[in-house]
Amino acid sequence: MLHVLLADAELELVPESIASHPSVVVNARKRGKKTTRVLLDTNLHHAAMKDLEMGERRGRPDIVHFFLLLALDSILNQMGELRVYVHTRNNELILVDPLTRLPKNYPRFVGLMETLFNNGVVPSKEMPLLRLMPDYTFEKCLNSIPHDRTVVLSPTGKPVLPDRYFKEVRAENLLCVIGGFPEGDFLSNVYPLADEVISISDQTLTVWTVLSELLVNYENAIRR
Ligand SMILES: C[S@@+](CC[C@H](N)C(=O)[O-])C[C@H]1O[C@@H](n2cnc3c(N)ncnc32)[C@H](O)[C@@H]1O
Repeated sequence: MLHVLLADAELELVPESIASHPSVVVNARKRGKKTTRVLLDTNLHHAAMKDLEMGERRGRPDIVHFFLLLALDSILNQMGELRVYVHTRNNELILVDPLTRLPKNYPRFVGLMETLFNNGVVPSKEMPLLRLMPDYTFEKCLNSIPHDRTVVLSPTGKPVLPDRYFKEVRAENLLCVIGGFPEGDFLSNVYPLADEVISISDQTLTVWTVLSELLVNYENAIRR
């Protein structure tokens, strides 16, 4: 089984400190929502985020959307050999049922995430497809995901060829960690907790490119 954890994902509600900024107020009002109940999104809140610490990397729900769509629709997931998790910059862990069918439409995905942040579970307690767990540091995430090897993906890691790598690594439950942010490095202390840090290209890649390499090459490795 391949477990993929998107770590330090830039997914959060609008922080209190910028909740009264005009760009935040206007967008929330249009959607009939309280300013602190909407997702921070750099496309909408760019002006307000200039005053936010690390504002240049925050507010990227689109990365989580792409990541989850790609993972949940993959052949590996259909084979029952994939589990995905999202850890956020504020140390929440989102547990994802592999049968979840996510909205393809981005505004609908945003609405779903807002409900998840506000209710802790979607679509309902009786059918918890996505569950948000507060107070999950990266280390606590590792302790609660069943795995026997932790591999962090980083452009500065040991260079490997993904097809060969997955054939050689014989972990039954392999946990791969990808950073859920557009720039900078992990905020969490991921490197000392990893068994290995690997790079799959000499270029910095997008999250979805890295994920697609993992999905296809792991699938090929376990089919043989
Ligand atoms: C857009 S990158 C973040 C950019 C950041 N400057 C960095 O150095 O990782 C998002 C994530 O994709 C993964 N990634 C990007 N390029 C990679 C590469 N060449 N090899 C392995 N993983 C990579 C890493 O997990 C990274 O945290």
